[in-house]
Amino acid sequence: MDYFVIRGGQPLQGRVPISGAKNAALPILAASLLTPSELRLNNVPHLNDITTMIELLGALGGEVAVDESGSLCISALDLNSRRAPYELVKTMRASILVMGPLLARFGRAEVSFPGGCAIGSRPVDLHLKGFEAMGAQIDVRDGYIVATTEGGLRGCDFTFEMVTVGGTENLLMAAVLADGETILRNVAREPEITDLVRFLRAMGADISGDDTDTLVIRGVGSLNSCEYTVMPDRIEAGTYLVAAAATGGCITVEGADAEHLGLVLDKLRDAGVDVQVDGDAITADMLGKRPLSVDVITAPYPGFPTDMQAQFTALNLVADGVARITETIFENRLIHAQEMSRMGANITVDGHSVIIRGQEEISGAPVMASDLRASASLVIAGLAAKGETRVDRIYHIDRGYERIEEKLQSVGADIVRKMR
Ligand code: UD1
Repeated sequence: MDYFVIRGGQPLQGRVPISGAKNAALPILAASLLTPSELRLNNVPHLNDITTMIELLGALGGEVAVDESGSLCISALDLNSRRAPYELVKTMRASILVMGPLLARFGRAEVSFPGGCAIGSRPVDLHLKGFEAMGAQIDVRDGYIVATTEGGLRGCDFTFEMVTVGGTENLLMAAVLADGETILRNVAREPEITDLVRFLRAMGADISGDDTDTLVIRGVGSLNSCEYTVMPDRIEAGTYLVAAAATGGCITVEGADAEHLGLVLDKLRDAGVDVQVDGDAITADMLGKRPLSVDVITAPYPGFPTDMQAQFTALNLVADGVARITETIFENRLIHAQEMSRMGANITVDGHSVIIRGQEEISGAPVMASDLRASASLVIAGLAAKGETRVDRIYHIDRGYERIEEKLQSVGADIVRKMR
């Protein structure tokens, strides 16, 4: 198993190119199952989760090829299976996203109960309730969710009990081929949902209400071929900007979209960071100073993203003051706190919050990554710490950060990947 060895304490300085967004590319890849026509996708990041989704498309009978420019050419013409197998689904929860497209196009989908990050129980009950509202029958057999329809999905008026990103995406993809109009209320408004809407529209879907909490979808008979470029990864961009702040450095992320990072940039400014936006470049300059503590409460978009919570926890370890970070989206997403205390951090868990008394210095230590964003936060803590940090189980980080050690090395970080 790979691990990182980090020698911290250097301010990071330089420019980092931002990759395509994992959380936009995954539903877009799943949506490719909706059409027999060929699709071409640009700016898909090279990540383990993306490889898993491509393998899943392959297991269903789809074909995915990479052309010389790095774009993905996808054909879901001859799908010969409706079953997303346990071996793939257990490594990535987002595999559930093939359910909507398979059900809409073929009237049948079988998906193993999803796994993924160890951040709470993360049920999919709302996805299933929505499919039922569209006329699907749901059964559970041998660890698989089996969804079927007689005569196809029907449009419906469905209100999500709570905001769910994956649930919104799954029902949206199902509704584009359903018979009649579907109204989805209390939907997630994450930029990745808007990216999916744009992709579906490019394929000929009829959708309105993007960027609001109600989506209206008028089903169409079939979808056509298109070429689409995936949006930049706002969480990757935010992670590098926080790394600049935590190390007292200055990083410019290139190819990013500041509009997607509203509260993240505001919180960096509250921490004393000079944040400048110039087109698709965002610069965070800590001006060689120590950051100030900032409180954070996670919330659905446009609130503060849960996927940036752990990184801001890392920033607060070395900040001046006391911070409270509250997680409201996922249970059990504060596991990194314990690892951070191994680095001499003054951090305590209080229910769904962590309280951090920032220290001038934290020290390197062996730590263990527990999920994707927690791994990123431990890398940031290691970069800010004096001495050597070893981050184990970095397979989590490879799920969601493209070439992270190369990108960090290019801004002066002393980080090496090693194999046990
Ligand atoms: C997506 C993102 C993930 C991000 C999360 C919240 C992808 C691939 N992953 O995950 O990085 O952290 O949004 O922004 O895009 N819930 C239910 N029942 C359901 C569905 C969800 O109770 O049927 C709960 C979950 O347990 C969780 C909360 O709703 O507590 C939010 O989950 P959801 O928005 O669905 O997250 P994901 O789509 O899994």
